Amino acid sequence: MKTSIKKAILPAAGLGTRFLPATKASPKEMLPIVDKPLIQYAVEESIACGIEDFIIITGKYKRAIEDHFDTAYRLEEKLRTSGKEKILAELNKLNHINLAYIRQRTPLGLGHAILCAKPFVKDEPFAVILSDDVIDPEYPLLKEMIKIYEKKKCPVIALEEVPLSEVHRYGIIDGKSDGNVYKINNLIEKPKPEKSPSNLAIIGRYILTPEIFGILEKQEAGAGGEIQLTDALRRLLKKAPIYGYLIEGRKRYDAGDKLGYLEATVDFALKNKELSEDFKNYLIEKIKPLI
Ligand code: UTP
Repeated sequence: MKTSIKKAILPAAGLGTRFLPATKASPKEMLPIVDKPLIQYAVEESIACGIEDFIIITGKYKRAIEDHFDTAYRLEEKLRTSGKEKILAELNKLNHINLAYIRQRTPLGLGHAILCAKPFVKDEPFAVILSDDVIDPEYPLLKEMIKIYEKKKCPVIALEEVPLSEVHRYGIIDGKSDGNVYKINNLIEKPKPEKSPSNLAIIGRYILTPEIFGILEKQEAGAGGEIQLTDALRRLLKKAPIYGYLIEGRKRYDAGDKLGYLEATVDFALKNKELSEDFKNYLIEKIKPLI
């Protein structure tokens, strides 16, 4: 598949404080949903769009991510000799991708994490995928965003409607819609509900252009003392249009949050061929006394 977006940045250097103690010494991005870590879902979603070059922004206690995408000789040998070819093929199916790892020395925010990739992106447009925002693999969100980018040649960000009571957790946009596509007029990081321009929240999929790096370089810390991508996008908006793509239905899970993680686990298990029947029966038995 040919695409104008060849590289994806996967920021994975955050501290994952909402998921402590699980994330004290192991990466949030390695939390599994059924049998695959969050970051592998993000990689597979990108591969489905023709992206094969990945820049993963890592930090302290994130070594497991590198090991996950590396060859595991002993394990592979054991699988081979015991005839477990199916699992072996599953383990090897991502061998063709190119991966680079950059260490964000201090977690200064998402904007700063993206800036760390500047020397490796140079002057190409690129995707940013936040692994803890899990998208239903059947929903071609990134593909739709790339299509919009190819038409407009401007940054495109993914949007989701959230309850007004939750806007303080997100970057929120103000914009004008044409179907699912929004032309953005303004972006605000974590507004108070009464000051929020809408309930359209920015979620973890972005198609960005390299102009963002120059802005991030001059960017001061914003909400939470972090270098916020939303603040940089607001400044970019003064120079170039930015579009949003609104997802509809229940297709995004905030797997960096305990409830969102559990919801994703239940939904993905119910769709898993090997598990769905038994798991559904288990859930029905479990829920019966409660209703
Ligand atoms: P989150 O807002 O989910 O922050 O970051 P977090 O630190 O991972 O988790 P909590 O809120 O403390 O529980 C969004 C994305 O940006 C990355 C994270 O790894 C995640 O993918 N990130 C965040 C960085 O790479 N570096 C940072 O300095 C901050």
